[in-house]
Amino acid sequence: MTLLEIVNISYLVSAVLFIVGLKRLSSPATARSGNLLAATAMLLAVVITLIDREVLDYIQILSGIVLGSIIGAVFARSIQMTAMPQMVAIFNGLGGAASALVASGEYLKLSSYESIGIEYSFTIALGAFIGSVTLSGSFIAFGKLQGIVTSNAVSSMVVRGSNPILFIALVGMIAGIIIAPENDLLFLSLIITSLVLGILLVMPIGGADMPVVIALLNSYSGMAAAAAGFALDNLLLIISGSLVGASGFILTQIMCDAMNRSIWNVMFGAFGAVTADSSDTNNQVNQAISTTAEDSAIILAYAKSVIFVPGYGLAAAQAQHQVRELATLLQSRGVDVRHAIHPVAGRMPGHMNVLLAEADVPYDQLYSMEDINEDFERTDVAVVVGANDVTNPVSRDVPASPIYGMPILNVDMAKTIIFIKRSLSPGFAGIDNPLFYNPKTRMLFDDARRALTEIVNAIKTL
Ligand code: TAP
Repeated sequence: MTLLEIVNISYLVSAVLFIVGLKRLSSPATARSGNLLAATAMLLAVVITLIDREVLDYIQILSGIVLGSIIGAVFARSIQMTAMPQMVAIFNGLGGAASALVASGEYLKLSSYESIGIEYSFTIALGAFIGSVTLSGSFIAFGKLQGIVTSNAVSSMVVRGSNPILFIALVGMIAGIIIAPENDLLFLSLIITSLVLGILLVMPIGGADMPVVIALLNSYSGMAAAAAGFALDNLLLIISGSLVGASGFILTQIMCDAMNRSIWNVMFGAFGAVTADSSDTNNQVNQAISTTAEDSAIILAYAKSVIFVPGYGLAAAQAQHQVRELATLLQSRGVDVRHAIHPVAGRMPGHMNVLLAEADVPYDQLYSMEDINEDFERTDVAVVVGANDVTNPVSRDVPASPIYGMPILNVDMAKTIIFIKRSLSPGFAGIDNPLFYNPKTRMLFDDARRALTEIVNAIKTL
């Protein structure tokens, strides 16, 4: 077998492993092995590429691998679960940077060629453009989530008006590079303008929409990698870049569908610019029925069936272990316990699944919205832990509401609802939730972790 055949077969095996790995990521039960398969595929791809290509300096490459692995391992172990979106944003940004660097490296080689095909110069320019936009956009997304950059939607007309102009200028620069590939200044301008566009594209988007933006930037980083694959004439990079590009885009679409919003609305709607007006809720404070941890404990201990509905407040309070403790305690008393997961509960895809998995809540107790929604009306108690928008019935009943049409968990159909949150403040969408004032609802105003701990202690004394 020739070296070329070995390389091609290895690339084929890697590509298949990537696809199988991605498929396995779709269920929490198989996600770990899916990740391992994809990582193995990447290792195989790197080793085969090093054997196949002319390598200038193995020491430099090995140093890079060792250093990168150490940094990656330290971050992966030390990062807080709530900071995961920031980490993904940095990963995407660095992925974009890598593609832009590869494109720049290939560009520098152009002068040594006698004739350059259009497809070659085009993919180099495209890789540099998308990679640079992804780099700066991802770092602004990181800054917004981390509170370093304002999380408000900066919707100034100057910012918005300049984006189409920059985009047209970039198309012109790409055309210029195809015509005159030896023009270094043009290539440098392409990179700088793309970096500026990345910043201006993300600045007008509110901090709360950053998870959707990060999924979209993830898709961009895949496209940049695919473009780099064309420039390097590397089939596997084209395949893996396309897989990342497509899966990032599908994820973006799923998140938008679950919020009943279009990608256009997320990118240009300045949704996060709306600040919550809690005056209405304050006026209605007397109408909401509040409860105590002790009363909640009695309601729960004598229920037959309970559904927990976690939301962003669960992550903020880091109350996942207390949810598991309460669930286990109730089960030991013969209560049927399940957890209902809304696709956009929290602030990132799979946020609730990850938190509950971290607390060892068994996968078979986690139910997706479609699978559990019909069961709420037969359920004694729904315990809403720091969730809000994903339970708001106005999205079903009030056509004028900004979240009208967003699919929700039918919490209002349960016989009793216990809402654990600190106040009557609205959630991410900034709108009041009539479920707080439903006669079946009991509001337990407290931090989720403290409230759940007190309920557990109270049940133990029963
Ligand atoms: P939200 O509607 O944002 O409500 C979260 C609630 O948690 C708040 O009302 C807050 O009320 C409460 N909370 C905060 N800290 C708490 C604490 N320490 N203890 C107890 N409660 C606490 O959350 P949700 O229902 O999960 O909905 C998610 C929202 O984010 C949706 O509107 C969705 O469209 C949006 N979104 C989601 C994603 C993804 S991918 N998940 C991406 C972008 C946007 P208090 O302040 O009164 O405590």
